Amino acid sequence: MSRPFYVTTPIYYVNDVPHIGHAYPTVAADAVARWHRLWGDDVVFLTGTDEHGLKVQRAAEEHGLTPREWADRTSERYREAWRALDISNTDFIRTTEPRHHQAVQQFLQVVYDNGYIKLGTYEGLYCVDCEAYYTEDELVDGNCPIHGRPVELVTEENYFFQLSRFQDALLEHYETHPDAVLPVTKRNEVIGFIKQGLQDFSMSRTSISWGVPIPWDNRHVAYVWFDALFNYCTAVGYATDRARFDRFWPAAHHIIGKDILRFHAVYWPAMLMAAGELPPKLVFAHGFLLVRGEKMSKTAFNQISPLDLVNEFGPDGVRYHFLADQRFGPDGDFSYEAMVARYNADLANNFGNLASRVLNMAVEYCDGVAPSERAEGPLVASTARVFEAASKAMEHLDFSGAYGAIWELIRDANAFIEEREPWKLHKAGDRAATAAVLGDCLEALRVIALLASPVIPRAAGELWRRLGLDGTPEDQRLPEAAAWTGAPAGTTIDKGTPLFPRIEQT
Ligand code: MSP
Repeated sequence: MSRPFYVTTPIYYVNDVPHIGHAYPTVAADAVARWHRLWGDDVVFLTGTDEHGLKVQRAAEEHGLTPREWADRTSERYREAWRALDISNTDFIRTTEPRHHQAVQQFLQVVYDNGYIKLGTYEGLYCVDCEAYYTEDELVDGNCPIHGRPVELVTEENYFFQLSRFQDALLEHYETHPDAVLPVTKRNEVIGFIKQGLQDFSMSRTSISWGVPIPWDNRHVAYVWFDALFNYCTAVGYATDRARFDRFWPAAHHIIGKDILRFHAVYWPAMLMAAGELPPKLVFAHGFLLVRGEKMSKTAFNQISPLDLVNEFGPDGVRYHFLADQRFGPDGDFSYEAMVARYNADLANNFGNLASRVLNMAVEYCDGVAPSERAEGPLVASTARVFEAASKAMEHLDFSGAYGAIWELIRDANAFIEEREPWKLHKAGDRAATAAVLGDCLEALRVIALLASPVIPRAAGELWRRLGLDGTPEDQRLPEAAAWTGAPAGTTIDKGTPLFPRIEQT
């Protein structure tokens, strides 16, 4: 039976429409999901929308709609954006769905029955944008440290989750699972935070009704984060299919932004422990995509819509830019000019030119039929080396490392062509030698299409078709499919039009 693999994105707040900061983790999770499918894993890839809480309630009010009408509308915008980006999620969860309410209520009851939730009064400084309380010291100039906006003094009778009781268990968990939070700088941050001492936090609200009712006291609804985090368990059957849940949990890989690290690496494992469940296998916190050095936000009017970029660069161009063009982990600056330059250099020139060069020569010199001859030249070793390097990098969510490796194979193939000069061999009438050089190049192209398919699935699929190969790259299985066994001879080659037409800077 195939191995289970579970990857998630954060669920996105529906107070906002999708921008490229949301597309970033979604594209990353998609590449990971596609990579694992190539290895034959049984992949669950979850994304969705976070629809409760004050922030959403207020956004709906501002637009003269009920929260549900507003959520229906905005949630659809996310689905639309993910379709445009060829996101291959297997599930899309909305926290307002009955399956989620039911699962959260069951979970809350377990945590309550286990004695980790108590009634109390809370007075604190609340940032509605974060849906979180801050202490006086955490504020910057009296404002929220993340949004730079004023916080509100809120007094409530709340239920409290006794986070403080999990300090030792969390530290032990991170000691025994050193790879549970990555990159390592983020792991250290989490451990440092836990060591400072953990405060119980209020996990219910009476001030709003837009949420999951607390099962034992329905004057309260669950605090939005308490309900949101649980989406990861709802989707794999916590309340409906225990066998499925046990298959995919705790093997979850949560891809998240650094701003929500504390929720995922401190609150979430403690909440799970309180219910007698295991913490997730991995929380990977990436940095922000910045626009001129600033985080994108509604208030800064610097949000870029993924659909606008897809219209200009195609889904593969956008996906490539997010993943291969910058390191996944640290912050990265987004600039249109840099995006055009890298698109032209890497996709139009390197990748696209190699493909059209090889396909054209195969059509011209081999009558458009893939030859059986092989030169067994340097590309044999390059392919093996690149496959190994790309695999290692992908395992560590190092997309730019994986792409660096694949682009080495592209360079090696170009160098091989320059060195062997098949046009001269052809001119000299040496049909066998020409076919042998092109045989190696076609095989390298096949492996390039296969390994590149998690990030640029459309172009990879199209290249596969032009090579005359059966099925799609997605149907292949690693490691066998990456081996230098020789693409089948006799397939019909189609040279087609440029895979990545050049983009002129506007
Ligand atoms: N709803 C919560 C997550 C709940 S998960 C159980 C939330 N939503 S969000 O829509 O505000 O943000 C979702 C994700 O988008 C976060 O991981 C955040 O880091 C990411 N990004 C938002 N803007 C971003 C950039 N500019 N760059 C990269 N990612 C950023 O938080």
